[in-house]
Amino acid sequence: MSGAGVWEAPGRVNLIGEHTDYNDGFVMPFALPRTVVATAARRDDGILRLRSADAHGGPVELPVAELAPGYGPGGWSDYPAGAVWALREAGYPVGGADIEYQSTVPAGAGLSSSAALSVVTALALTDLYGLGAERERMALLCRRAENEYVGAPTGIMDQMASACCVEGHVLHLDTRDLSRRLIPFDPAAHGLRLVVVDTRVKHAHSGGEYGKRRAGCEAAARALGVPALRDIAYAELPGALERLPDSGLRALVRHVVTENHRVERVAAALAAGEVRAVGPLLTEGHASLRDDFRVSCPELDLVAETALTAGALGARMTGGGFGGSVILLAEESGADAVLDRVVRAFTGAGYGEPGVFTAAVAGGARRVA
Ligand code: GLA
Repeated sequence: MSGAGVWEAPGRVNLIGEHTDYNDGFVMPFALPRTVVATAARRDDGILRLRSADAHGGPVELPVAELAPGYGPGGWSDYPAGAVWALREAGYPVGGADIEYQSTVPAGAGLSSSAALSVVTALALTDLYGLGAERERMALLCRRAENEYVGAPTGIMDQMASACCVEGHVLHLDTRDLSRRLIPFDPAAHGLRLVVVDTRVKHAHSGGEYGKRRAGCEAAARALGVPALRDIAYAELPGALERLPDSGLRALVRHVVTENHRVERVAAALAAGEVRAVGPLLTEGHASLRDDFRVSCPELDLVAETALTAGALGARMTGGGFGGSVILLAEESGADAVLDRVVRAFTGAGYGEPGVFTAAVAGGARRVA
């Protein structure tokens, strides 16, 4: 235990397994080298003082003992305040702190800047107060913070990715029991490039639509008599679809069941060193999110379609959808040409300049000083 230090927690890209985590399914994120950095020191007066280099306005000061959902000014500080609240609620003797944040994770890009903010806070406080919370425990508490303190009904993927990823690997995670496998992932070693294209678009209705999809999945699971859609095996899909009268629910089930299956196929391809085989599975995933789950948008579709037309091996939206980012997999030799086409098509459609960067496969949250 020491009185001050610096910690960082990464944003993530989800390679495959979208909208499966709140269905007890499978996901496969990896951490980006873009992080939220927290410079933190203990305070003995029980005050949590939060300051963000990126947000407007002065510091937010909150007594740890008073933290409760709905307390505080709302906005970005709800994420760290929620993480501290969740630690306290779980019985950890957490006290006050001065924390200053700086982020290189683009906000609203579908790359989990908010999970990075909560996880770095949980890690900093755990170290500052010697709380001994394990990574998995931190991730669960940060999800609780997001669900109950912030009020966003997310799954566990983003928090687990930020807390538990390991450099050079994807995290193949079973979100039911949190069992996981690290699979080496190094596109460059195979002559490939994985690129993130951030549309810099975030549609305002995204939060409400997310909750509706989740509620629809839960309704479908109830109608099918299973605890969660994860319990419908791929081979059982045709029978399950026949038993559902509602076409909207059928489409949700079709996405979740085929997406879980795609995660397993990507895991098998990576384990066999067949990285190129991942491309078409990304593209299939995008079609399923666009047509069945209906969480894509014209900006994401344009990037994904243009990338494929220009020769990418695969492309799909990543994250919750309704804006945010597309990932595309391309031969290294052709990647620049693909990106050139994508950027020209995107700006040509009047959407503004997208953010484009190569997705390096980085590690999870850690103390840096
Ligand atoms: C958001 C949520 C995650 C997950 C994805 C969709 O990122 O935070 O829990 O549901 O959307 O896969």
